[in-house]
Amino acid sequence: MNDFQYYTPTKVVFGRGTEEQAGQLVKEQGGTRALVHFGGRSARESGLLDRVLASLDRAGVAHVELGGVVPNPRLSKVREGMELCRREGVDFLLAVGGGSVIDSAKAIALGLAYEGDVWDLFSGQPARNCLPVGTVLTIAAAGSEMSNSCVITNEDGWKKRGLNTDLCRPRFAVMDPELTFTLPAYQTASGCVDIIYHTMERYFSGAETVEPTDSMAEGLMRSMLELSRRVVRDPRDYDARAGIMWAGSLSHNSLTGCGRGGRGRIGDWASHQLEHELSGMFDVTHGAGLAAVWGAWSRYVMDAAPERFARFARAVMGVDTPGSDEETALAGIRAFEHFLRSIGMPTTVGQLGITLDEQAIEKLAWMCTFEGRRTIGSFKVLGLEEIKDIYRAAR
Ligand code: NZQ
Ligand code: ZN
Repeated sequence: MNDFQYYTPTKVVFGRGTEEQAGQLVKEQGGTRALVHFGGRSARESGLLDRVLASLDRAGVAHVELGGVVPNPRLSKVREGMELCRREGVDFLLAVGGGSVIDSAKAIALGLAYEGDVWDLFSGQPARNCLPVGTVLTIAAAGSEMSNSCVITNEDGWKKRGLNTDLCRPRFAVMDPELTFTLPAYQTASGCVDIIYHTMERYFSGAETVEPTDSMAEGLMRSMLELSRRVVRDPRDYDARAGIMWAGSLSHNSLTGCGRGGRGRIGDWASHQLEHELSGMFDVTHGAGLAAVWGAWSRYVMDAAPERFARFARAVMGVDTPGSDEETALAGIRAFEHFLRSIGMPTTVGQLGITLDEQAIEKLAWMCTFEGRRTIGSFKVLGLEEIKDIYRAAR
């Protein structure tokens, strides 16, 4: 087992109607004037926004509002939020939405506490401070409600870049599974895929085995397979929604990576980096983009440790046919792709409606290596040519 630090400072308030406590939670954290940040339509149309504003009023917390965050959130909105917060003297960021809204709020909070240009923080400059952020989660997917990550797209060049710092872990996460009943089926399924991947990225990296962590990871992935199928059948299945929501946080609050390792950051993350270029360039839904590249990635890297993929096949996908590690591993990959199709997810980039020609592949791979300055992955390290091969295989 590798050395590790495990830091999850986020207070989780879970269950029906918990959004009524948002105001009190902001107050407990010392917030006196909050920016309530939200997305395009859903929070307003469902009445959630009004309920959250009322709870701030009850707690005596002043507030200003800024909506309009789009999926794959944009830098221009972050800048707009920073200006508004400076003008209004905001001291707390309350995100009401999913990963995109939360990440936009995190970027505003980091940007306000940074003297230079906020994009520097997404280009390698270390963050030293951050305003407090709280969340009312409306979609189980990104795990940003407990994670140390923040992912923003710069419209200048359509660069989608992430940063990781414990400073931006939210102070609290309000999670009412009923809020997710209104999600479109495609968003629900994409979210489920993202949740599974956050554990998978850590599972396929670092130390050979770390029993407690590996068993938790396998249990989480197995339960997500079952819960995803249930929620596709019945979007109002409360227990399935609740299980998925909790799994979303557990999958990305670092728990399923403890003791594993990788290069620099715990995990492999190659699939995420391959996907971030796709969603930066083509604006695809993150989880669906992950689904589209996973088969190509896994077949490409499997030979680095077929026994690990074989363990995944047996412990998660229930493959029990006799055979070599390679055969079992491939059966597991096929079984996972079958699962993806069963919940309406793509298994190729073409199924996202995107035609990847050679020119697009060159550009994606070049961007993915930060213009030739980095390799990705730790299960198997991938450079420019390998990345192109994977995009080609994912077509
Ligand atoms: O804008 P509205 O109208 O709210 O619609 C949203 C949006 O269109 C809708 N939605 C959300 N809650 C809803 C709802 N519709 C009906 N009912 C509800 N209750 O769902 C759509 C997607 O929302 P979004 O916030 O984009 O989803 P998600 O949570 O998947 O976030 C995706 C973003 O997070 C990043 C992704 O790259 C992407 O930019 N990630 C962030 C991570 C992190 N910070 O830790 C890790 C992830 O790996 C990921 O990269
Ligand atoms: Zn993700």
